[in-house]
Order: sequence, then C-alpha cells, then structure tokens
Amino acid sequence: MDDIIYIKNLSFDYPDKNKVLNHINLTIKAGEDVAFIGRNGAGKSTLLLNIIGILDGVGEIEIFGIKMKRGNLSEIRRRIGFVFQNPDDQLFMPTIFDDVSFGPLNFGFSKDEIEKKVKNVLKIVGLEGYDFRKPHHLSLGEKKRAAIATILVLEPEVIIFDEPTLALDPGGRKNIIRFIKSIKSTKIIATHDLEMVLELCNRVILMDDGKIVADGNTKEILADGKLMNDTGMDVPSSLSV
Ligand SMILES: Nc1ncnc2c1ncn2[C@@H]1O[C@H](COP(=O)(O)OP(=O)(O)O)[C@@H](O)[C@H]1O
Ligand SMILES: [Mg+2]
Repeated sequence: MDDIIYIKNLSFDYPDKNKVLNHINLTIKAGEDVAFIGRNGAGKSTLLLNIIGILDGVGEIEIFGIKMKRGNLSEIRRRIGFVFQNPDDQLFMPTIFDDVSFGPLNFGFSKDEIEKKVKNVLKIVGLEGYDFRKPHHLSLGEKKRAAIATILVLEPEVIIFDEPTLALDPGGRKNIIRFIKSIKSTKIIATHDLEMVLELCNRVILMDDGKIVADGNTKEILADGKLMNDTGMDVPSSLSV
C-alpha cells in the first residue's frame, strides 16, 4: 500500500471553537504534491497539526500505514516533517547549529555524523557558515530556511509546510519556492499563495468551514471561478482570462 496519509472521519474541536474539522476523509499517496487552500480559518493548519499528532482529534489517521497514537509518534515524525508557519516555533536553541542538530541528536546519530549532516543541510538551504549565528538575529527569510533545515536534516519522506511564503518579500518568496521545488520529499503545503501552488503541486484540496469542498487537479480547481468565489478565493491571475 502506498498511502502516505489515510484519514477517516476526522473531526476536531478546540475548547472554545467547535467543528473546526468536520468529518474529514482523505487519502494522499506517495508522489503526490498536495496543496491545502481555503480562506483564513478554514481549518488547514488544524488538519495538518492532526496529521503529525500535535493535535488529537476524533477519527482515524494512519501515516504510512502506521496508526496515529502516542506510542507511534516518534516513528511518524521521523518520516514526516513539519515546517511551522512561524519559524520562531521551530527555532528555540541558542544557535542554528544547535537547532539543526537537535533532531539527529534525538535520533541517536554520532557527533561526527551530526556535524556532517548539519554542514551539508545548511549548505543546501543557503545558510553555509551560519552554524553559530543566533536564530533571533536572522531575517525572516533566513529563519524560514533555517526552520526547513531542522526538518530536512532528518531526510523525511514527506514534508508539510504551513504557509511557507507568508510575509516574505518577493525575492525571499522566489528563493523559498525554488528551494522547496528542489526538495525530493513529497510536499504537502497549506497556503494562500496560489501561484506557488501552480508551480509546486499537482493536487489541490480546497477547505471551507472545516470541510473539504473540492479535491482534484490543481489547474482545474484554481480555474473554477464559481468554486473559488464561493469559498472566498480568487482565480490566480496567471489562470484568469
Ligand atoms: N488554538 C486555538 N484555539 C481556539 N481556536 C482556534 C485555535 N487555533 C485555531 N482556532 C480556530 O479554528 C479555526 C481554524 O483555524 P486554522 O486551522 O488555523 O485555519 P487556517 O489554517 O485554515 O487559517 C479558526 O476559526 C480559528 O480561529
Ligand atoms: Mg493556517
């Protein structure tokens, strides 16, 4: 079975906000690069946080055929990485080296292996020589790349990105898109950046009010003016005539 993600009847309530996810059913297969789109508050981030077990809803989730439950979290998170919307949620150590080596250290790699891995991954994200810089001194674009490095270093089969281009300037945005494109892992991206979706994802899942309202080919969904309008979205300019 090549299902990466299998979700059956998933619902989620926050203590002060109910039905944020409302009976979600979903399967993602290996090799599909998938975008989750939908207006603010549609439930995209909440769904992704359930997929890596940070939030715990009602329903069934399997990742690579492994049941989502506390005892399996470590294996699941080794195989599926999560890049938070806000890099400050990912970077919490005194230096970039400490942050990027944190995961490999936890998974028992030797000191030599870790040094090699960190150097290599910092080069890949364009932060060569940043080992001993302090995360809070970096620009947003650099922080986002450092946050991706903390995930990439574990070589996960799947990487989930929550709003990777949000708040970046045009140059930083282009950089991140080019860079995400070059990553070999399967990509799952929650975003409002529909031009990026066109470039990176072959499948789009459109959410509204805790439900999946459309799921299919990227161009077909993004070019559907009525569907996009009804869900508070705009057809991206490169597709509108
Ligand atoms: N920690 C939280 N506590 C209570 N409500 C939340 C929390 N996080 C998100 N919500 C609410 O859940 C809904 C879905 O939010 P979210 O999953 O962040 O949507 P999206 O990522 O699509 O913008 C929104 O109404 C939001 O206000
Ligand atoms: Mg969100």
